[in-house]
Amino acid sequence: MKFFVDTAETADIRELAELGLVDGVTTNPSLIAKSGRNFLEVIEEIADLVDGPVSAEVVALDHETMLKEADKLLTLGSNIAIKVPLTLDGLKTCRALADRGVAVNVTLCFSANQALLAAKAGAAFISPFIGRHDDVGFDGMALIADIRMIYDNYDFETEILAASIRHPIHVLEAAKIGADVSTLPPKVLKQLANHPLTDKGIDAFTADWESTGQSIL
Ligand code: E4P
Repeated sequence: MKFFVDTAETADIRELAELGLVDGVTTNPSLIAKSGRNFLEVIEEIADLVDGPVSAEVVALDHETMLKEADKLLTLGSNIAIKVPLTLDGLKTCRALADRGVAVNVTLCFSANQALLAAKAGAAFISPFIGRHDDVGFDGMALIADIRMIYDNYDFETEILAASIRHPIHVLEAAKIGADVSTLPPKVLKQLANHPLTDKGIDAFTADWESTGQSIL
């Protein structure tokens, strides 16, 4: 499973990239607004920080303007993936960009039929939103499983990018189902490393080692 970081905070991306844990980055207009920074500047900076795909989202709702926005965003780095919403105009834009060899991330997916459309439109990534689906009483993880089955049935190459991940169990379940990518808030990515028995074991090993009076270096 690849790990993307779901943030526009460059300090967090830099820190996680230095750990060797970042395969890409996803952003959205809300994350850009939260960062308080200029959209184009921050995307260019992120694209320099990581080698993998950096999803930058168009904000227009009509196909022609989406394409113009995509062309501008594509100038910001060779690893930019264009994020489009799962609407008919978004799908049309996906097909046009995919035909030019551009990686497209189709976002705001809440049904398996939507995911089927995105694959047929040539999307590089489909982003089903697990947490937001759970929030309204649907089973976000069942959506991931349905998409996995459908994509496998037809050998679609579109990667399932599990999004709107809120906690480590979402990552675990998505990995068990076989989602290709999880995009994680930095906090959740770090939480994956935590276990109280690891901490307890380190404390015991440290105390026992100190009792020997030895040093390695
Ligand atoms: C994915 O690309 C989205 O940016 C993100 O995962 C949305 O997560 P949220 O529902 O926690 O805002």
